[in-house]
Amino acid sequence: MPRMTINDRPVEFDLDPQMPLLYALREAANLTGTKSCGGGDCVGACMVLVDGTALRSCRITLAEAEGRLITTIEGLSRDRSHPMQQAMVAEQAIQCGYCTPGIVISGAALLQRNPAPTREEIEAAVPNLCRCGVYPRLVKAVQLAGRVVQRRESISAAPAPGIDAADAAERVPALRVQAGPENGSSEPDS
Ligand code: FES
Ligand code: FES
Repeated sequence: MPRMTINDRPVEFDLDPQMPLLYALREAANLTGTKSCGGGDCVGACMVLVDGTALRSCRITLAEAEGRLITTIEGLSRDRSHPMQQAMVAEQAIQCGYCTPGIVISGAALLQRNPAPTREEIEAAVPNLCRCGVYPRLVKAVQLAGRVVQRRESISAAPAPGIDAADAAERVPALRVQAGPENGSSEPDS
């Protein structure tokens, strides 16, 4: 049975070793942040880090992943604090969400080996397909993240997951909340 380390946790899959890693991640490990076009056509919605290199998990079998260190988007950071995640928000480079996890993984892998990439280097290292045309912002996001990695710049952090409505209302002018009558919980105004 294939064994590997996923997001710092040793795991063993009781699955066909020829199964693509992608399906094991999504269907068995419940790591659904890794997306799938189902056929190797999307150029990277399924990207994960394999021993630090961004690879398409739909093209790797469990047997090939045996003994490797796998990092999915869930393992990149627990609180969206990775510079690539923060820079994607800051540069408004997040569009449909389907492609974003793979783009972030590709960018993170690039920055690990080259924190100051040129536009050409980013285009080569982040091949992810994006039909909404986010590429110019994507280049800016990777370069911003690189400056953060080098501690030449900082980003004012985006809200962490699980932010409640009252906290969100302090940041979003269109949202108002009222205190709940008994337990102090808050509901959006209608
Ligand atoms: S699922 Fe589309 S390239 Fe892997
Ligand atoms: S981010 Fe998904 S198509 Fe552009």
